[in-house]
Amino acid sequence: MTGRTSLTIVLAAGEGTRMRSATPKVLHQVAGQSLLAHVLAAAPNGAGAALAVVIGPDHGAVAQEVKRLRPDAATYIQRERLGTAHAVLAAREAIARGADDLLVAFGDTPLITAATFARLREALGKGAAVAVLGFRAADPTGYGRLLVEGDQLLAIREHADATAAERAITLCNAGVMAFDGRRALEIIEKIGHANSKGEYYLVDAVAIARELGLEAVVIETSEDEVRGINTKAQLAEAEAVMQARLRKAALDAGVTMVAPETVFLAADTSFGNDVTIEPFVVIGPGVSIADGAVIHSFSHIVQASIGKKASVGPYARLRPGTSLGEGARIGNFVETKAAILEAGVKVNHLSYIGDARVGEGSNIGAGTITCNYDGFSKHRTEIGSHAFVGTNSSLVAPVKIGNGAYIGSGSVITKDVPDDALAVERSQQTIREGGAKRYREIKTRGKTPKA
Ligand code: UD1
Ligand code: MG
Repeated sequence: MTGRTSLTIVLAAGEGTRMRSATPKVLHQVAGQSLLAHVLAAAPNGAGAALAVVIGPDHGAVAQEVKRLRPDAATYIQRERLGTAHAVLAAREAIARGADDLLVAFGDTPLITAATFARLREALGKGAAVAVLGFRAADPTGYGRLLVEGDQLLAIREHADATAAERAITLCNAGVMAFDGRRALEIIEKIGHANSKGEYYLVDAVAIARELGLEAVVIETSEDEVRGINTKAQLAEAEAVMQARLRKAALDAGVTMVAPETVFLAADTSFGNDVTIEPFVVIGPGVSIADGAVIHSFSHIVQASIGKKASVGPYARLRPGTSLGEGARIGNFVETKAAILEAGVKVNHLSYIGDARVGEGSNIGAGTITCNYDGFSKHRTEIGSHAFVGTNSSLVAPVKIGNGAYIGSGSVITKDVPDDALAVERSQQTIREGGAKRYREIKTRGKTPKA
Protein backbone atom coordinates (compact mmCIF):
# COMPACT_ATOMS: atom_id res chain seq x y z
CA MET A 1 0.00 0.00 0.00
CA THR A 2 2.93 2.31 -0.36
CA GLY A 3 2.08 5.74 -1.62
CA ARG A 4 -1.64 5.72 -0.77
CA THR A 5 -2.77 8.14 1.89
CA SER A 6 -5.45 7.18 4.39
CA LEU A 7 -7.88 8.59 6.89
CA THR A 8 -9.13 6.22 9.59
CA ILE A 9 -12.27 7.25 11.45
CA VAL A 10 -12.91 5.38 14.68
CA LEU A 11 -16.46 5.62 16.02
CA ALA A 12 -16.49 5.79 19.78
CA ALA A 13 -19.49 7.93 20.65
CA GLY A 14 -21.46 5.09 22.21
CA GLU A 15 -22.60 5.30 25.81
CA GLY A 16 -21.92 1.66 26.54
CA THR A 17 -24.81 1.49 29.01
CA ARG A 18 -24.74 -2.30 29.02
CA MET A 19 -21.25 -2.25 30.56
CA ARG A 20 -22.92 -0.91 33.72
CA SER A 21 -19.93 1.26 34.48
CA ALA A 22 -19.07 4.91 34.99
CA THR A 23 -16.11 4.42 32.64
CA PRO A 24 -16.81 5.14 28.94
CA LYS A 25 -17.01 1.82 27.09
CA VAL A 26 -13.92 2.25 24.90
CA LEU A 27 -11.74 2.92 27.96
CA HIS A 28 -12.31 -0.53 29.41
CA GLN A 29 -9.23 -2.69 29.09
CA VAL A 30 -8.17 -5.84 27.31
CA ALA A 31 -4.65 -7.15 27.95
CA GLY A 32 -3.74 -4.03 29.90
CA GLN A 33 -4.77 -1.51 27.24
CA SER A 34 -8.01 0.32 26.50
CA LEU A 35 -10.26 -1.07 23.77
CA LEU A 36 -9.57 2.15 21.89
CA ALA A 37 -5.79 1.68 22.20
CA HIS A 38 -6.06 -1.70 20.49
CA VAL A 39 -8.03 -0.27 17.58
CA LEU A 40 -5.68 2.68 17.20
CA ALA A 41 -2.68 0.36 17.29
CA ALA A 42 -4.11 -1.63 14.37
CA ALA A 43 -5.06 1.45 12.32
CA PRO A 44 -2.63 2.71 9.67
CA ASN A 45 0.07 4.90 11.21
CA GLY A 46 2.98 6.99 10.01
CA ALA A 47 3.38 9.31 7.03
CA GLY A 48 0.19 9.86 5.06
CA ALA A 49 -2.00 8.11 7.65
CA ALA A 50 -4.46 10.49 9.32
CA LEU A 51 -6.67 9.50 12.22
CA ALA A 52 -9.98 10.88 13.51
CA VAL A 53 -11.93 9.63 16.50
CA VAL A 54 -15.63 10.46 16.97
CA ILE A 55 -16.57 10.70 20.63
CA GLY A 56 -19.68 11.54 22.60
CA PRO A 57 -20.27 14.75 24.52
CA ASP A 58 -18.85 14.57 28.09
CA HIS A 59 -16.22 12.09 26.93
CA GLY A 60 -13.20 14.18 27.90
CA ALA A 61 -11.46 11.08 29.20
CA VAL A 62 -11.76 9.43 25.78
CA ALA A 63 -10.31 12.54 24.10
CA GLN A 64 -7.38 12.41 26.55
CA GLU A 65 -6.74 8.76 25.76
CA VAL A 66 -6.70 9.59 22.03
CA LYS A 67 -4.21 12.40 22.65
CA ARG A 68 -1.99 10.14 24.73
CA LEU A 69 -1.96 7.41 22.08
CA ARG A 70 -1.88 9.43 18.88
CA PRO A 71 -1.13 13.13 19.48
CA ASP A 72 -1.61 13.70 15.75
CA ALA A 73 -5.23 12.49 15.81
CA ALA A 74 -8.25 14.78 15.64
CA THR A 75 -11.30 14.18 17.81
CA TYR A 76 -14.81 15.13 16.75
CA ILE A 77 -17.85 15.26 18.98
CA GLN A 78 -21.12 13.70 17.84
CA ARG A 79 -23.70 15.62 19.89
CA GLU A 80 -26.67 13.38 19.11
CA ARG A 81 -26.44 9.66 18.38
CA LEU A 82 -28.32 9.48 15.12
CA GLY A 83 -26.55 6.45 13.66
CA THR A 84 -23.22 5.28 12.30
CA ALA A 85 -23.38 7.39 9.11
CA HIS A 86 -24.22 10.47 11.17
CA ALA A 87 -21.25 9.67 13.41
CA VAL A 88 -18.89 9.42 10.43
CA LEU A 89 -20.10 12.79 9.18
CA ALA A 90 -19.08 14.38 12.49
CA ALA A 91 -15.60 14.10 10.93
CA ARG A 92 -16.79 15.57 7.62
CA GLU A 93 -14.03 18.18 7.64
CA ALA A 94 -11.37 15.45 7.79
CA ILE A 95 -13.07 13.40 5.05
CA ALA A 96 -13.30 16.48 2.83
CA ARG A 97 -9.50 16.73 2.87
CA GLY A 98 -9.64 13.68 0.60
CA ALA A 99 -7.28 10.85 1.51
CA ASP A 100 -6.96 8.01 -1.03
CA ASP A 101 -8.49 5.51 1.39
CA LEU A 102 -11.14 6.20 4.04
CA LEU A 103 -11.38 3.51 6.71
CA VAL A 104 -14.16 3.36 9.30
CA ALA A 105 -13.83 1.17 12.39
CA PHE A 106 -15.58 0.88 15.75
CA GLY A 107 -13.82 1.74 18.99
CA ASP A 108 -15.33 -1.27 20.75
CA THR A 109 -13.83 -3.93 18.45
CA PRO A 110 -10.38 -4.39 19.98
CA LEU A 111 -9.29 -7.59 18.23
CA ILE A 112 -9.05 -6.04 14.78
CA THR A 113 -5.58 -6.34 13.22
CA ALA A 114 -3.41 -4.15 11.01
CA ALA A 115 -3.35 -6.96 8.41
CA THR A 116 -7.12 -6.71 8.01
CA PHE A 117 -7.01 -2.95 7.41
CA ALA A 118 -4.34 -3.66 4.80
CA ARG A 119 -6.56 -6.26 3.06
CA LEU A 120 -9.45 -3.79 2.86
CA ARG A 121 -7.14 -1.15 1.39
CA GLU A 122 -5.83 -3.66 -1.11
CA ALA A 123 -9.41 -4.12 -2.40
CA LEU A 124 -9.68 -0.35 -2.87
CA GLY A 125 -6.37 -0.40 -4.69
CA LYS A 126 -7.89 -2.93 -7.11
CA GLY A 127 -10.76 -0.57 -7.93
CA ALA A 128 -13.54 -1.18 -5.39
CA ALA A 129 -15.26 1.98 -4.14
CA VAL A 130 -16.45 0.24 -0.97
CA ALA A 131 -14.90 -2.76 0.80
CA VAL A 132 -16.76 -4.23 3.76
CA LEU A 133 -15.29 -6.57 6.34
CA GLY A 134 -17.52 -9.63 6.66
CA PHE A 135 -17.52 -12.74 8.84
CA ARG A 136 -19.56 -15.93 9.23
CA ALA A 137 -21.49 -15.50 12.46
CA ALA A 138 -22.22 -18.52 14.63
CA ASP A 139 -25.36 -16.61 15.63
CA PRO A 140 -26.08 -13.76 13.20
CA THR A 141 -28.87 -12.23 15.32
CA GLY A 142 -28.47 -8.46 15.54
CA TYR A 143 -25.84 -8.11 12.83
CA GLY A 144 -26.27 -6.51 9.42
CA ARG A 145 -26.50 -9.25 6.72
CA LEU A 146 -24.36 -9.05 3.59
CA LEU A 147 -26.39 -9.55 0.41
CA VAL A 148 -23.96 -10.82 -2.22
CA GLU A 149 -24.03 -11.97 -5.81
CA GLY A 150 -20.90 -13.82 -6.84
CA ASP A 151 -18.01 -11.74 -5.53
CA GLN A 152 -20.06 -8.55 -5.60
CA LEU A 153 -21.69 -7.02 -2.54
CA LEU A 154 -25.13 -5.68 -3.37
CA ALA A 155 -26.34 -4.29 -0.06
CA ILE A 156 -26.26 -4.67 3.71
CA ARG A 157 -29.52 -5.27 5.52
CA GLU A 158 -29.76 -4.49 9.22
CA HIS A 159 -31.30 -7.28 11.29
CA ALA A 160 -34.35 -5.23 12.25
CA ASP A 161 -35.14 -4.49 8.61
CA ALA A 162 -34.34 -7.93 7.16
CA THR A 163 -36.84 -10.43 5.76
CA ALA A 164 -36.93 -13.99 7.09
CA ALA A 165 -34.93 -15.16 4.06
CA GLU A 166 -32.31 -12.44 4.63
CA ARG A 167 -32.09 -13.30 8.32
CA ALA A 168 -31.08 -16.83 7.32
CA ILE A 169 -27.87 -15.40 5.85
CA THR A 170 -24.90 -15.94 8.17
CA LEU A 171 -22.41 -13.72 6.33
CA CYS A 172 -22.48 -10.57 8.46
CA ASN A 173 -21.14 -7.04 8.55
CA ALA A 174 -18.27 -6.74 10.99
CA GLY A 175 -18.63 -2.97 11.02
CA VAL A 176 -15.28 -2.11 9.44
CA MET A 177 -15.65 -0.45 6.05
CA ALA A 178 -13.25 1.07 3.57
CA PHE A 179 -14.12 3.70 0.96
CA ASP A 180 -12.50 5.28 -2.03
CA GLY A 181 -11.64 8.53 -0.27
CA ARG A 182 -12.50 10.66 -3.32
CA ARG A 183 -16.06 9.31 -3.53
CA ALA A 184 -16.76 8.72 0.18
CA LEU A 185 -18.37 12.03 1.08
CA GLU A 186 -20.65 11.97 -1.95
CA ILE A 187 -21.82 8.45 -1.03
CA ILE A 188 -22.21 8.94 2.73
CA GLU A 189 -24.08 12.26 2.37
CA LYS A 190 -26.77 10.46 0.34
CA ILE A 191 -27.61 8.16 3.26
CA GLY A 192 -31.10 8.71 4.67
CA HIS A 193 -32.89 7.38 7.73
CA ALA A 194 -35.92 5.56 6.30
CA ASN A 195 -35.58 2.40 8.38
CA SER A 196 -37.16 0.84 11.42
CA LYS A 197 -34.90 2.70 13.86
CA GLY A 198 -34.96 6.02 12.02
CA GLU A 199 -31.13 6.12 12.13
CA TYR A 200 -28.59 7.08 9.51
CA TYR A 201 -27.00 3.69 8.76
CA LEU A 202 -23.50 3.70 7.32
CA VAL A 203 -24.22 0.28 5.83
CA ASP A 204 -26.57 1.94 3.31
CA ALA A 205 -23.41 3.24 1.60
CA VAL A 206 -23.15 -0.10 -0.20
CA ALA A 207 -26.47 0.13 -2.07
CA ILE A 208 -25.81 3.81 -2.84
CA ALA A 209 -22.40 3.01 -4.30
CA ARG A 210 -23.98 0.34 -6.51
CA GLU A 211 -26.60 2.84 -7.74
CA LEU A 212 -23.73 5.14 -8.71
CA GLY A 213 -22.31 2.25 -10.76
CA LEU A 214 -19.44 1.69 -8.33
CA GLU A 215 -18.08 -1.62 -7.11
CA ALA A 216 -18.55 -2.95 -3.56
CA VAL A 217 -16.83 -6.09 -2.27
CA VAL A 218 -16.60 -8.21 0.89
CA ILE A 219 -13.37 -9.12 2.61
CA GLU A 220 -13.90 -12.03 5.02
CA THR A 221 -12.29 -12.57 8.37
CA SER A 222 -12.84 -14.74 11.45
CA GLU A 223 -15.55 -13.95 13.95
CA ASP A 224 -12.94 -13.73 16.70
CA GLU A 225 -11.31 -10.74 15.10
CA VAL A 226 -14.48 -8.67 15.00
CA ARG A 227 -16.06 -9.38 18.34
CA GLY A 228 -17.69 -6.16 19.52
CA ILE A 229 -17.82 -5.40 23.22
CA ASN A 230 -21.15 -4.40 24.70
CA THR A 231 -21.13 -6.23 28.03
CA LYS A 232 -18.66 -7.30 30.70
CA ALA A 233 -19.14 -10.90 29.55
CA GLN A 234 -18.06 -9.94 26.02
CA LEU A 235 -15.14 -8.02 27.51
CA ALA A 236 -14.02 -11.21 29.23
CA GLU A 237 -14.42 -13.20 25.99
CA ALA A 238 -12.31 -10.68 24.09
CA GLU A 239 -9.68 -10.89 26.84
CA ALA A 240 -9.57 -14.66 26.36
CA VAL A 241 -9.07 -14.32 22.60
CA MET A 242 -6.40 -11.66 23.07
CA GLN A 243 -4.58 -13.72 25.71
CA ALA A 244 -4.58 -16.74 23.40
CA ARG A 245 -3.01 -14.58 20.70
CA LEU A 246 -0.39 -13.10 23.02
CA ARG A 247 0.55 -16.51 24.42
CA LYS A 248 0.94 -17.95 20.96
CA ALA A 249 3.09 -15.02 19.88
CA ALA A 250 5.25 -15.44 23.00
CA LEU A 251 5.66 -19.17 22.40
CA ASP A 252 6.49 -18.52 18.74
CA ALA A 253 9.11 -16.03 19.90
CA GLY A 254 10.74 -18.74 22.02
CA VAL A 255 9.32 -18.09 25.48
CA THR A 256 9.05 -21.31 27.51
CA MET A 257 5.69 -21.74 29.24
CA VAL A 258 4.63 -25.20 30.37
CA ALA A 259 1.11 -23.99 31.12
CA PRO A 260 0.58 -20.96 28.88
CA GLU A 261 -3.15 -21.00 29.58
CA THR A 262 -2.39 -19.88 33.15
CA VAL A 263 -0.11 -17.00 32.18
CA PHE A 264 -1.58 -13.55 31.56
CA LEU A 265 0.31 -11.14 29.35
CA ALA A 266 -0.14 -7.52 28.27
CA ALA A 267 -0.28 -6.39 24.67
CA ASP A 268 3.07 -4.62 25.08
CA THR A 269 5.01 -7.28 27.01
CA SER A 270 8.45 -7.72 25.44
CA PHE A 271 10.66 -10.80 25.69
CA GLY A 272 14.30 -11.53 25.05
CA ASN A 273 15.58 -14.98 24.09
CA ASP A 274 15.14 -18.01 26.32
CA VAL A 275 12.77 -16.47 28.80
CA THR A 276 10.87 -18.91 31.02
CA ILE A 277 7.52 -18.17 32.61
CA GLU A 278 6.20 -20.71 35.05
CA PRO A 279 2.48 -21.35 35.58
CA PHE A 280 0.17 -18.74 37.12
CA VAL A 281 1.98 -15.51 36.40
CA VAL A 282 0.23 -12.18 35.74
CA ILE A 283 2.05 -9.58 33.68
CA GLY A 284 0.50 -6.12 33.39
CA PRO A 285 1.40 -3.31 31.00
CA GLY A 286 4.90 -1.95 30.47
CA VAL A 287 6.96 -5.05 31.22
CA SER A 288 10.12 -6.13 29.44
CA ILE A 289 11.88 -9.39 30.25
CA ALA A 290 15.44 -9.84 28.99
CA ASP A 291 17.31 -12.92 27.78
CA GLY A 292 17.37 -15.94 30.04
CA ALA A 293 15.22 -14.47 32.80
CA VAL A 294 12.93 -16.81 34.74
CA ILE A 295 9.60 -15.76 36.21
CA HIS A 296 8.52 -18.30 38.78
CA SER A 297 4.93 -19.14 39.62
CA PHE A 298 2.42 -16.78 41.21
CA SER A 299 4.30 -13.59 40.45
CA HIS A 300 2.56 -10.31 39.57
CA ILE A 301 4.53 -7.79 37.51
CA VAL A 302 3.55 -4.32 36.25
CA GLN A 303 5.69 -1.64 34.55
CA ALA A 304 8.98 -3.27 35.30
CA SER A 305 12.13 -4.11 33.43
CA ILE A 306 13.70 -7.45 34.19
CA GLY A 307 17.35 -7.88 33.30
CA LYS A 308 19.17 -10.76 31.68
CA LYS A 309 19.15 -14.01 33.65
CA ALA A 310 17.24 -12.37 36.50
CA SER A 311 14.99 -14.58 38.61
CA VAL A 312 11.64 -13.46 39.99
CA GLY A 313 9.43 -15.28 42.48
CA PRO A 314 7.75 -17.56 43.18
CA TYR A 315 5.20 -15.25 44.81
CA ALA A 316 6.86 -11.93 43.98
CA ARG A 317 5.15 -8.63 43.32
CA LEU A 318 7.01 -6.19 41.08
CA ARG A 319 5.22 -2.85 40.99
CA PRO A 320 5.72 0.11 38.63
CA GLY A 321 9.21 1.50 38.36
CA THR A 322 11.00 -1.70 39.23
CA SER A 323 14.19 -2.37 37.32
CA LEU A 324 16.22 -5.52 37.85
CA GLY A 325 19.80 -5.75 36.63
CA GLU A 326 21.47 -8.78 35.16
CA GLY A 327 21.25 -11.84 37.37
CA ALA A 328 19.28 -10.07 40.10
CA ARG A 329 17.15 -12.38 42.25
CA ILE A 330 13.80 -11.53 43.79
CA GLY A 331 12.46 -14.34 45.91
CA ASN A 332 9.20 -15.29 47.56
CA PHE A 333 6.97 -12.71 49.20
CA VAL A 334 9.08 -9.79 48.06
CA GLU A 335 7.45 -6.56 46.90
CA THR A 336 9.30 -3.87 44.96
CA LYS A 337 8.16 -0.42 43.79
CA ALA A 338 10.15 2.36 42.08
CA ALA A 339 13.22 0.33 42.90
CA ILE A 340 16.39 -0.06 40.89
CA LEU A 341 18.15 -3.28 41.80
CA GLU A 342 21.45 -3.50 40.01
CA ALA A 343 23.21 -6.57 38.67
CA GLY A 344 23.48 -9.51 41.02
CA VAL A 345 21.37 -8.03 43.82
CA LYS A 346 19.60 -10.63 45.95
CA VAL A 347 16.36 -10.00 47.81
CA ASN A 348 15.37 -13.56 48.40
CA HIS A 349 12.67 -13.56 51.05
CA LEU A 350 9.88 -11.54 52.63
CA SER A 351 10.95 -7.95 51.91
CA TYR A 352 9.63 -4.60 50.75
CA ILE A 353 11.96 -2.48 48.65
CA GLY A 354 10.30 0.80 47.58
CA ASP A 355 11.66 4.16 46.35
CA ALA A 356 15.11 2.70 46.47
CA ARG A 357 18.28 1.92 44.61
CA VAL A 358 20.37 -1.10 45.53
CA GLY A 359 23.88 -1.23 44.11
CA GLU A 360 25.46 -4.15 42.33
CA GLY A 361 25.98 -7.38 44.25
CA SER A 362 24.27 -6.32 47.46
CA ASN A 363 22.45 -8.88 49.57
CA ILE A 364 19.23 -7.88 51.26
CA GLY A 365 18.31 -10.29 54.05
CA ALA A 366 14.91 -11.80 54.76
CA GLY A 367 12.37 -9.41 56.20
CA THR A 368 14.17 -6.20 55.23
CA ILE A 369 11.82 -3.26 54.86
CA THR A 370 12.56 0.12 53.33
CA CYS A 371 10.37 2.35 55.49
CA ASN A 372 9.66 4.83 52.69
CA TYR A 373 6.54 6.50 54.05
CA ASP A 374 6.36 8.56 57.21
CA GLY A 375 2.64 9.17 56.96
CA PHE A 376 3.18 12.41 55.03
CA SER A 377 5.59 11.84 52.18
CA LYS A 378 7.70 9.21 50.48
CA HIS A 379 11.47 9.09 51.00
CA ARG A 380 14.31 7.31 49.26
CA THR A 381 16.67 4.60 50.39
CA GLU A 382 20.05 4.39 48.66
CA ILE A 383 22.08 1.25 49.18
CA GLY A 384 25.55 1.02 47.69
CA SER A 385 27.16 -1.94 45.99
CA HIS A 386 28.21 -5.15 47.76
CA ALA A 387 26.42 -4.14 50.95
CA PHE A 388 24.94 -6.73 53.29
CA VAL A 389 21.69 -6.02 55.08
CA GLY A 390 20.99 -8.53 57.84
CA THR A 391 17.58 -10.10 58.24
CA ASN A 392 14.62 -8.24 59.66
CA SER A 393 16.17 -4.79 59.28
CA SER A 394 14.14 -1.61 58.90
CA LEU A 395 15.81 1.06 56.78
CA VAL A 396 14.07 4.29 57.73
CA ALA A 397 14.19 6.59 54.71
CA PRO A 398 15.61 8.96 53.77
CA VAL A 399 18.73 6.96 54.43
CA LYS A 400 21.94 5.91 52.66
CA ILE A 401 23.81 2.68 53.20
CA GLY A 402 27.35 2.88 51.83
CA ASN A 403 29.20 0.51 49.52
CA GLY A 404 30.29 -2.64 51.33
CA ALA A 405 28.45 -1.66 54.52
CA TYR A 406 27.19 -4.38 56.87
CA ILE A 407 23.93 -4.03 58.76
CA GLY A 408 23.38 -6.39 61.68
CA SER A 409 20.17 -8.42 61.84
CA GLY A 410 17.17 -6.76 63.40
CA SER A 411 18.52 -3.23 63.05
CA VAL A 412 16.42 -0.12 62.71
CA ILE A 413 18.65 2.16 60.65
CA THR A 414 17.77 5.84 60.87
CA LYS A 415 21.15 7.41 60.09
CA ASP A 416 23.35 7.11 56.99
CA VAL A 417 25.91 4.32 57.15
CA PRO A 418 29.28 5.11 55.51
CA ASP A 419 31.08 2.82 53.06
CA ASP A 420 32.41 -0.38 54.64
CA ALA A 421 30.96 0.49 58.06
CA LEU A 422 29.20 -1.95 60.36
CA ALA A 423 25.91 -0.78 61.84
CA VAL A 424 23.86 -2.61 64.44
CA GLU A 425 20.88 -1.13 66.22
CA ARG A 426 19.02 -3.43 68.59
CA SER A 427 17.34 -3.38 71.95
CA GLN A 428 19.32 -5.04 74.73
CA GLN A 429 19.06 -8.82 74.98
CA THR A 430 17.81 -10.11 78.31
CA ILE A 431 19.26 -13.37 79.65
CA ARG A 432 17.83 -14.98 82.77
CA GLU A 433 19.87 -17.98 83.94
CA GLY A 434 17.71 -21.10 84.31
CA GLY A 435 14.65 -19.39 82.91
CA ALA A 436 14.12 -22.06 80.32
CA LYS A 437 14.14 -24.86 82.90
CA ARG A 438 11.28 -23.24 84.77
CA TYR A 439 9.38 -22.87 81.50
CA ARG A 440 9.80 -26.58 80.76
CA GLU A 441 8.65 -27.53 84.22
CA ILE A 442 5.42 -25.59 83.82
CA LYS A 443 4.83 -27.14 80.43
CA THR A 444 5.46 -30.70 81.65
CA ARG A 445 3.06 -30.23 84.56
CA GLY A 446 0.41 -29.12 82.10
CA LYS A 447 0.78 -32.37 80.17
CA THR A 448 1.01 -34.83 83.10
CA PRO A 449 -0.76 -33.24 86.10
CA LYS A 450 0.09 -36.06 88.58
CA ALA A 451 3.87 -35.75 88.22
C1 UD1 B 1 -23.42 -2.13 13.45
C2 UD1 B 1 -23.73 -2.26 11.96
C3 UD1 B 1 -24.10 -3.72 11.65
C4 UD1 B 1 -22.95 -4.62 12.06
C5 UD1 B 1 -22.60 -4.40 13.52
C6 UD1 B 1 -21.31 -5.13 13.84
C7 UD1 B 1 -24.67 -0.14 11.23
C8 UD1 B 1 -25.91 0.59 10.94
N1 UD1 B 1 -24.83 -1.40 11.65
O1 UD1 B 1 -24.61 -2.43 14.16
O2 UD1 B 1 -24.36 -3.88 10.27
O3 UD1 B 1 -23.29 -5.96 11.81
O4 UD1 B 1 -22.36 -3.00 13.78
O5 UD1 B 1 -21.03 -5.05 15.21
O6 UD1 B 1 -23.59 0.39 11.08
N2 UD1 B 1 -21.87 4.82 17.02
C9 UD1 B 1 -21.63 6.15 17.16
N3 UD1 B 1 -22.65 7.02 16.95
C10 UD1 B 1 -23.88 6.62 16.57
C11 UD1 B 1 -24.13 5.24 16.43
C12 UD1 B 1 -23.09 4.36 16.65
O7 UD1 B 1 -20.52 6.57 17.49
O8 UD1 B 1 -24.74 7.47 16.39
C13 UD1 B 1 -20.78 3.89 17.25
C14 UD1 B 1 -21.02 3.01 18.46
O9 UD1 B 1 -20.41 3.56 19.62
C15 UD1 B 1 -20.33 1.72 18.06
C16 UD1 B 1 -20.47 1.69 16.57
O10 UD1 B 1 -20.73 3.02 16.15
O11 UD1 B 1 -18.95 1.73 18.38
C17 UD1 B 1 -21.57 0.76 16.09
O12 UD1 B 1 -22.81 1.15 16.62
P1 UD1 B 1 -23.83 0.10 17.20
O13 UD1 B 1 -25.01 0.84 17.71
O14 UD1 B 1 -23.16 -0.83 18.10
O15 UD1 B 1 -24.26 -0.64 15.85
P2 UD1 B 1 -24.84 -2.10 15.72
O16 UD1 B 1 -26.31 -2.05 15.93
O17 UD1 B 1 -24.07 -3.03 16.55
MG1 MG C 1 -22.71 -2.94 18.21
